[in-house]
Amino acid sequence: MNPLNHVAIIMDGNGRWGIKYKKSRNAGHKAGLKSVEKIIRETIKNKIKFLTLFAFSTENWKRPKKEVNYLFNLLENFLINKIEDLHKKNIKLKILGSKKFSPRLNKLLNNCEKKTSKNSRLQINLALNYGSKSELIGAFKRIKIKNININEKNIIKNLQTQNMPDPDLLIRTGNTKRLSNFLLWQLAYSEIFFEKKLWPAFNSKDYNRIIKEYRNIKRNFGKI
Ligand code: FPP
Repeated sequence: MNPLNHVAIIMDGNGRWGIKYKKSRNAGHKAGLKSVEKIIRETIKNKIKFLTLFAFSTENWKRPKKEVNYLFNLLENFLINKIEDLHKKNIKLKILGSKKFSPRLNKLLNNCEKKTSKNSRLQINLALNYGSKSELIGAFKRIKIKNININEKNIIKNLQTQNMPDPDLLIRTGNTKRLSNFLLWQLAYSEIFFEKKLWPAFNSKDYNRIIKEYRNIKRNFGKI
């Protein structure tokens, strides 16, 4: 059975779900947050140490302002209401991506990271304003400034995902088969599952089915 230390998820399909069932994309995001909570609980049950959630990409700024504002309000309320609970559950929160938000949100994100920084049961990486190409450019720039060799070890050390294992498993919901500029370096050897269901419809049973299938895959890492 394969060990499972890190699951990454592209939570796609909120908008389509919202339009289909509630005639509103934003209602889909609200329902998507319920799935986030379910999946966090299930991740703990499965004793997985890292969960990386793609919540907002560098490209998502191109969406209508009303939707972007709704998403960030949702995030802000989620953190304000749930950070104490996450902390009590011994969960560490880390933000991936560049924190170029309102001073209020930046402060909230920093406070949440600081408050939970010593926690050890599960680390949740929330990818916000995240793009893998920009993360890689940042790593190369740091390597140049430090005047150190360009090699695998130094690149890993200068990515935002330093100090964590690469994802063993990537799940993308929403019936779309692409990586959308997410963890391009870190996903080199991950097992990838494209799920037909839209994110708000994705539940614990679906998650456990994928985990079970993942556990039984023969992972070669280039060997035979
Ligand atoms: C992609 O679906 C989803 C997003 C861009 C936002 C993800 C956000 C959440 C799941 C809720 C907020 C999360 C937190 C942690 C506060 P889409 O809108 O691109 O769906 P579509 O492909 O159907 O349009």
